[in-house]
Amino acid sequence: MLTIKKKTAALLADRISSVFGSDLVGADELVRMLEYPPDSSMGDLALPCFRLSKSLRRSPVQIAASLAEGFECEEFSSVTAVNGYLNFKINPTAFARRVVGDVFRLGDKYGSSQSGVGKTVVLDYSSPNVAKPFHIGHLGTTVIGHSLKLIHQFEGYDCVGINYLGDWGTQFGKLIVAYKLWGDKQQIERGGVDELVKLYVRINNEIKAEEDASVAENPDAPRHSALGDAARAEFKRLEDGDEENLALWRWFVSVSLEEYQKTYKLLGIEFDSYKGESFYTDKMPAQVQKLRDMGLLELDDGASIVNLDKWNMPVCLILKRDGSTLYPTRDIAAAVYRQETYGFDKAIYVTSAAQSLHFAQWFKVVELMGYGWYDRLVHVPYGTVSINGAKLATRTGNVILLKDLFDEAISRVAEITREKHPDPEECMRIAEQVGVGAVVFYYLSNNRMRDINFVMEEALSFDGNTGPYVQYTYARTCSVLERAGSTGKMNDVPLTDGEMELVKCVALFPEKVAQAMAEYEPSVITRYILDLAAAFNRFYHDCKIIGCEDESLRETRIALTAATNRVLHTALELICMKTPEKI
Ligand code: ARG
Repeated sequence: MLTIKKKTAALLADRISSVFGSDLVGADELVRMLEYPPDSSMGDLALPCFRLSKSLRRSPVQIAASLAEGFECEEFSSVTAVNGYLNFKINPTAFARRVVGDVFRLGDKYGSSQSGVGKTVVLDYSSPNVAKPFHIGHLGTTVIGHSLKLIHQFEGYDCVGINYLGDWGTQFGKLIVAYKLWGDKQQIERGGVDELVKLYVRINNEIKAEEDASVAENPDAPRHSALGDAARAEFKRLEDGDEENLALWRWFVSVSLEEYQKTYKLLGIEFDSYKGESFYTDKMPAQVQKLRDMGLLELDDGASIVNLDKWNMPVCLILKRDGSTLYPTRDIAAAVYRQETYGFDKAIYVTSAAQSLHFAQWFKVVELMGYGWYDRLVHVPYGTVSINGAKLATRTGNVILLKDLFDEAISRVAEITREKHPDPEECMRIAEQVGVGAVVFYYLSNNRMRDINFVMEEALSFDGNTGPYVQYTYARTCSVLERAGSTGKMNDVPLTDGEMELVKCVALFPEKVAQAMAEYEPSVITRYILDLAAAFNRFYHDCKIIGCEDESLRETRIALTAATNRVLHTALELICMKTPEKI
């Protein structure tokens, strides 16, 4: 539709200058003014002429009437003036032929504007904290992050996906103490990250118990725990390069990574870099020095901070009282490194909205430091996830792991697919694609800022606006094409309203991709997929395709199916969904 909008806008711009002798409204502006009327009986495109009244100094009704008179273009069957609107009715045959022709010609590139060619975008997403659970709270950053990467890639950007692992910090001190006290090497080798999490949960509980006891004993003294002290000491040894602790740390990281990889594999995610927080340890001092040299650092109760009062934000903490660095310090150093390494045009960070202030603060600090690229930093926040209404708590271990969520979805789907696919391997492959897809699609169905309550039954349902439903629709297009044995062709036949709706939906894909990218909102694609699936299913029920007796009509309908199939495939892949040809 964008193509026709642009074409119409160009024609309109010419007409406006010839009819009104005015160059005040350009084609770009007109593209933005053109609307899709809510009811297509009024037209397929409309120009609300009141928006031109001011520049042209005429009433909308006058403008619409003058523009309509003698407006000719083969793409439209009629151009009429109604109540100050200029309504365009598309010439169905010419339009459908062009749209389907575009899909066939461009193949898996159809929908891409290639607006990112020659530009680089760096995406920081997923980034779990090692040895802490990889739970459903990470679903958002992982799936939104990866979709944004795929969408940018599709638009032609060079993309660098970075997993900024939380592989450094005091939790390693705790884990080392816990491991030395209660750990069992073989058990961890067998049980993986779950065993590390158990140790982590246990030591947190014990530290809390010790602190509670210390308060009970002496309510006036600060909370205290000997285990907590030990953990800090072990972390200090790690920071100082103690070989034994370093070896443990490396091991904990690799055990955790192995686990994450399983989930990434299910989702088809690969990262280009796993440079985690630890990588930036030696890159922070230079940035801290720069802040100091520029006079941006202030002392606040012994800590070094950047004051952000003027921007109505709390101070940004750079160094703790004991001189140790903090989360913002590391993010600043990492951004500088990434700019130097990749020269990014955009750096995108996908995290929960709980971190919005953190990003606003350090983005501002980067600006104050005089880095010209500060305005290329983009934070993409998202809302919370609960499961059947239950909230999450990381420290107490009361969490739902991402892998468990996927496993459950997969095994429930397997129960259904087993009947149709007796071959166990094929059954599992399909169950995996449908189960994982169901979770992803359900998650990406809402605007990212919406808080989500995950209900597995809803996600897995085959009727409803779900992943299984759209994958099923895709499989249906595959089966039609397989039976047809060709991709058909567009003949000069009159199209029904249902067929036209389908063509229009296919035509909308390029602008939906552009919108999803501009708004950092994969749900634009998800909702588009639902519209396309619905349009196809209506067409499928209303029109005989293979059974159609008129040959040129049959060919045309097969071509429409093939175009739908192509676009569904591309769109599903953009949101990390697999496209099984049979379900
Ligand atoms: N590891 C962090 C967490 O799990 C997310 C890191 C986000 N990226 C960043 N550059 N700060 O909360």
